[in-house]
Amino acid sequence: MNIIGIESSCDETAVGIICSNKLLSNKIASQEFHKKYGGVIPELSSRAHLKTIVPLVKAALNESQIELSEVDVIGATAGPGLIGALLVGLTYAKGLSFSLGKPFIPVNHIEGHIFSGFLMDDKPGFPYLCLVVSGGHTLLLNVKSDLEIEQIGSTIDDAAGEAFDKVAKLLGMEYPGGPNIQKLALKGNENFVKFPVAKCKNDLDYSFSGVKTAVLRYVQSEFGNPGNIPQNVLPDIAASFQKAVVEALTRNVIKVLNEQKFKSVSLVGGVAANKAIQDRMREIANSYKLKFIVPKIEYCGDNGAMIAYRAEKLFLAGKKYSLNYNAFPSIKNKSYFT
Ligand code: KG4
Ligand code: ZN
Repeated sequence: MNIIGIESSCDETAVGIICSNKLLSNKIASQEFHKKYGGVIPELSSRAHLKTIVPLVKAALNESQIELSEVDVIGATAGPGLIGALLVGLTYAKGLSFSLGKPFIPVNHIEGHIFSGFLMDDKPGFPYLCLVVSGGHTLLLNVKSDLEIEQIGSTIDDAAGEAFDKVAKLLGMEYPGGPNIQKLALKGNENFVKFPVAKCKNDLDYSFSGVKTAVLRYVQSEFGNPGNIPQNVLPDIAASFQKAVVEALTRNVIKVLNEQKFKSVSLVGGVAANKAIQDRMREIANSYKLKFIVPKIEYCGDNGAMIAYRAEKLFLAGKKYSLNYNAFPSIKNKSYFT
């Protein structure tokens, strides 16, 4: 069975093809041009998806050495994400489904990330504690089975990736900021400034807007404005900020592991590519004698393989969807299932 997964929720057009659990192709076209604007411009993103989607699907089919007529299931991200961007991939997938007469499976982008650890040879075991850290979401979840997810905590304001991006911008670095902060932090002293780790009313929730503001206030009080930060201090600020984020993310993980039983721990989403977060999460999982799964870097960021994988699971679970299924910009009522 050949499953195609199409992803277009933000600034990556991506197409993955899976055949009976084997990944045949995982094509990702990143929209680099957003860098010059310091963030993703939704309308430009939609237009770029429109230009890229057809050639990218062809390239993925080529690499997989299959014809369009051999595709059995068509999955596409339905949300959450930028509505115009989502509509490109989703509508294209519906068109394919209609013309080929093959089932269409809308996929929740966050679910794509949640199960992305299964793209690795060493897979998570249920139930697993899943920390989703992306540009738009920060979630702590109990993943009980393929079809059962319980939300334990979430951010009440900014997502972890958003904080990385905003602090990077403040420090004069390009979007996406996460990889740039990580690189800069390697040369810095993480104990240079102690940035706060916010406490929330529900102590398993997250908040990242405070740490972002704390970096801004520190920079204003020490240097007047960001342009005056001495070059040799930038790595120290980046490392101190990263340390505060690692501490904030993992503190709740430890609290949950002290109270609930899991078979494994999984770190997923774009920010999961961060080495400092990975190292600390691995250390924690090891100390609880739990298997730790983090997808390799091309499955951390947005990709089509995770959408194809999720579409396959939903299809095999017997889920059926109409072509009237609409794109959705955000998750409602903590409900993950498409
Ligand atoms: O999952 P993703 O590709 O897109 C969304 O679904 O949002 O995540 C993108 C986010 C961006 O905020 C980016 O700065 C962050 O992932 N990111 C990182 C790293 N690589 C990507 N953050 C920290 N460290 C990294 N190495
Ligand atoms: Zn994502």
